[in-house]
Amino acid sequence: MATQEETFKKMVAHCKEYGFVFPSSEIYDGLGAVYDYGQNGVELKNNIKRYWWDSMTLLHENIVGIDASIFMHPTVWKASGHVDAFNDPLIDNKDSKKRYRADVLIEDQIAKYDEKIDKEVEKARKRFGDSFNEELFKQTNERVHEHIVKRDALHDRYKAAMNANDLNELKQIILDEEIVCPISGTRNWTDVRQFNLMFQTEMGSTADGAMKIYLRPETAQGIFVNYLNVQKTGRMKIPFGIAQIGKAFRNEIVARQFVFRMREFEQMEMQFFIKPGTEMEWFKHWKEFRLKWHKALGLGDEKYRYHDHEKLAHYANAATDIEFLMPFGFKEVEGIHSRTNFDLSQHAQYSGKKIEYFDPELNESYTPYVIETSIGVDRMFLSIMCAAYKEEQLEGGDTRVVLNLPPVLAPVKACVMPLVKKDGLPEKAREVMDMLKFDFKTNYDEKDSIGKRYRRQDAIGTPFCITIDHDTLNDNCVTVRYRDTMAQDRININDLHALIAKAVDMKQLYKKIME
Ligand code: GAP
Repeated sequence: MATQEETFKKMVAHCKEYGFVFPSSEIYDGLGAVYDYGQNGVELKNNIKRYWWDSMTLLHENIVGIDASIFMHPTVWKASGHVDAFNDPLIDNKDSKKRYRADVLIEDQIAKYDEKIDKEVEKARKRFGDSFNEELFKQTNERVHEHIVKRDALHDRYKAAMNANDLNELKQIILDEEIVCPISGTRNWTDVRQFNLMFQTEMGSTADGAMKIYLRPETAQGIFVNYLNVQKTGRMKIPFGIAQIGKAFRNEIVARQFVFRMREFEQMEMQFFIKPGTEMEWFKHWKEFRLKWHKALGLGDEKYRYHDHEKLAHYANAATDIEFLMPFGFKEVEGIHSRTNFDLSQHAQYSGKKIEYFDPELNESYTPYVIETSIGVDRMFLSIMCAAYKEEQLEGGDTRVVLNLPPVLAPVKACVMPLVKKDGLPEKAREVMDMLKFDFKTNYDEKDSIGKRYRRQDAIGTPFCITIDHDTLNDNCVTVRYRDTMAQDRININDLHALIAKAVDMKQLYKKIME
């Protein structure tokens, strides 16, 4: 059986082979951690965005959307704290000349202890069977207990160093833990330094008139600076939200795991403006709502978990991640943050404008608090691909690669196939296409055997294949073949639209979320 790592590699190759994701500027050997979405990838991505956008702006009458520009006045990033504090601690290995994030090296070390503990536990579980008591085993088994003590001590030390922004201590931890560079295998490390993740450029034509500006590292600030515009022109009453989907840019030191950590990526963010003092109630509400949104896709409830932040940003009073079980472990896909009134207050201070809300019920003005939900489109894309990619052994020794994508997200909903390229079958197939194409992304395929055509559609996750044969011309019926079960049904052409519509309707998901 293939390891998780091997399957992940195959999934990445599959993404390229079937037009989902290409390395950027590939003919020039690509650009680190920058990717292009192909003909199928962009459809899947657009469906993810539609699912998110509608779940915010259709399901909530008090949430509206905006589309702010990527370039913003540079003072925005001073006010938000990004100029001074949007840093990662980096460290170089002097022998391999490779650069790493010091925090990631330490977190990987903690994960190694966790792996050792899990391995021992699993071994014992097999040995003791039903009578196995995991907690008791962890307390009493000497080797496991030793790992737990070491892990917890490292974790506490790391947490303290991060909270104190103590770069020397981070380096000392790396030395004490004897962490080696994976390339050179040596412990010849530089000091740890802070590295700002924002990309800079210049706006304006003359050297002295040019202004240093940044590519936005998050879309959220576009919402904060438009808070007053939207609140006034939309006559919005608190609580209300502003949603946005757009590109963000970060000069990530270590970019890895395909589209998980990119230098150009897309975010879907919603800032929910609330009365101060109600933030814990709304934080809980959005945590639950967002998890339901994920689970409604049916990728498997056990693949999600919350991860509460230990190190809170200085302006946040609660923060949690929704993590998804990727082949490389549980990883953050979305963050939910209680950001207090930090951002609006900072912008009020730096712009000199009054940014408040007059609450008619209290007859007083205040600076709203904010709950933010922030999800990366690309990480969502990756989690769906990882869950959907399957290599199946079929009866008779055959194999197939299939993407079990949720039908609502599948890039192509149906493929229409004439059994042969003659006898009026292509013309009939075109008629069926024309009937479906206004509502569903539909492909047409007349090349190769039907079996090969089925496999091509399985590989891009098309839920329905529709075959037109000679009988169709007499009985107006077609063969529908279902992607997941490979079962086939004979169906009247007039019933096709309803069959597909039912399977790909996002309404069914929205109803689940709102239950
Ligand atoms: N406004 C809050 C904010 O930006 P974040 O946790 O830094 O918070 C939110 O980012 C989400 O954006 C993450 O949960 C992740 O899905 C996505 N994201 C962040 N950095 C990314 C990167 N380099 N590549 C891909 N997605 C990224």
